[in-house]
Amino acid sequence: MTTADIRSAYLEFFRSKGHAVIPGSSLVPENDPTVLFTTAGMHPLVPYLMGQSHPMGKRLTDVQLCIRTQDIDEVGDSSHLTCFEMLGNWSLGDYFKQGAIEMSFEFLTSKQWLGIDRNMLAVTCFEGDKDAPKDEESARIWESLGMPRARIGFLPKAKNWWGPAGKTGPCGPDTEMFYWVGAGQPKGNPATHDKEWMEIWNDVFMQYNKGEDGTFVPLKQQNVDTGMGLERVAAVMQGVASVYETDAFQPMMRAVAASAAVPGRVEEDTIRDQRIIVDHLKAAVFMLSDGVRPSNVDQGYVLRRVIRRAIRSAKKLGMENGSELSGSVASAVISQYGGFYQKLQKEQANILDALHHEADAFAKALMEGEKHFQKIAERSTKHIAGIDAFHLYDTYGFPIEMTREMANERSLSVDEDGFQKAFSEHQSLSRAGAEKKFAGGLADHSAETTKLHTATHLLNAALRTVLGDAVSQKGSNITGERLRFDFNYPEKMTPEQIKKVEELVNAAIAADAPVSYSVMTVDEAKTQGAIGVFDSKYGEKVKVYTMGAFSKEICGGPHVARTGMLGSFKIQKEESSSAGVRRIKAVVSGGPAEIEVAAEKV
Ligand code: ALA
Repeated sequence: MTTADIRSAYLEFFRSKGHAVIPGSSLVPENDPTVLFTTAGMHPLVPYLMGQSHPMGKRLTDVQLCIRTQDIDEVGDSSHLTCFEMLGNWSLGDYFKQGAIEMSFEFLTSKQWLGIDRNMLAVTCFEGDKDAPKDEESARIWESLGMPRARIGFLPKAKNWWGPAGKTGPCGPDTEMFYWVGAGQPKGNPATHDKEWMEIWNDVFMQYNKGEDGTFVPLKQQNVDTGMGLERVAAVMQGVASVYETDAFQPMMRAVAASAAVPGRVEEDTIRDQRIIVDHLKAAVFMLSDGVRPSNVDQGYVLRRVIRRAIRSAKKLGMENGSELSGSVASAVISQYGGFYQKLQKEQANILDALHHEADAFAKALMEGEKHFQKIAERSTKHIAGIDAFHLYDTYGFPIEMTREMANERSLSVDEDGFQKAFSEHQSLSRAGAEKKFAGGLADHSAETTKLHTATHLLNAALRTVLGDAVSQKGSNITGERLRFDFNYPEKMTPEQIKKVEELVNAAIAADAPVSYSVMTVDEAKTQGAIGVFDSKYGEKVKVYTMGAFSKEICGGPHVARTGMLGSFKIQKEESSSAGVRRIKAVVSGGPAEIEVAAEKV
């Protein structure tokens, strides 16, 4: 089976089990302050796991492209990727452990679907602790399906519990499925033979919400959130030893081999660098297709970093022309994935343009930087001083891990505490933030964020009234303290315009208008004049939130039940975000501490 066949079989299987197929979301999460990228299929579904109703029902399935940077140092082995596709099925308060496990087992082993030899599979279940009991229930279900007890391992929270990736949010025990990748016949289970079993699928039983105080409170509903790693399953189905040998990766791997300075120069021991090039540039292409551009903050900084790491690996392989290599790998990504991810085709020219631009800029900085590094390394005995590492970073754009790698190659270490100190002294705070957020996390749905979310809709509507209907949202990011809203507009707003927008939002708050939502098709939403980004990201049905006569917008929620709960609204900053895009930061204050959440209109 090709990767594409597995992807469609998965959706087809779950469709046959009553699941609605929903589109995957952008890699850049909206309204989520705690993560830079979508790291799992559940991300965009958090409000529904918390109890909001989903317009497409209680059983959903999708393919979600994910970016995970936590395992970036692992990339290049046989199974870790920073950019991968997660196949998912969800039960929002519908089936639970029995249904989820039965369906997983059927899809994996039935001849009609993947037909994997069940003797090659093993599973793990949660071993229990003070927060939740041992998951004997899942183990018994597996046994009833014919999984021998010896193939069922029990593991602690560090392994068999998913979420919240941030501080708070939905989470629960999980049961994970593994395929034997060790030598000879399968032995034991992942608890006894960790390295020889490769995880392929995770069924999470999301039944708790982790609160600010660290306690686990049962959620309103028992949910299932599953994630199957498409690339890993493709490796299993195709009988190859690594994800990079599957059909989908071949065009990119060939592009790298063809770029080798001397044909045949790419040898076995350099395989890791080839893989890094492919993985990182693939990640870069998808980030670019979702509108991220290289910069020194947030998503843009991660993008810059993966491009730079790829080019550095290319250089290690003797490929001097990073720009050309990036172009040929990116073109291979676009032709391989453009059928399913049509945005890649649409954005092809922009993607290649941005990539070449960044690669050329880095090539110059790298050349200079390496000379500089050389000098530093020569005068360093044991370690590279923090201030030197910072200088490499600040002036030549060397990510710290690159300096670390180059130092390690010369048996030197890097004074990373010193680097951090220099870093904060130079007040590169936004970049420091990006470093922290590099790790990932989940959205919260506290009263403050919900208020700011509602305020964002009112702001969007007010901007259109003041600046014209051509204004549309280009991005939104909400923390507990402020909202940030990006929109297209060619020039700086005047103080009068800003004042007017503020007044309109405050008038909507003063009117204490009711907020509610209705479920409808995208066409109906359009006809009703709802604001939305009408592209492929919506499913067949959407939720439209109405705030009195002030705003009507497609959105997943949640929102406060009445606009009066926002207290008062203030714009703190209006600035340029990128060419033709303005950014507003705003706050609300003085509303109630406890809020009521907007419900469906009856
Ligand atoms: N959210 C679960 C995971 O990412 C399925 O593993």
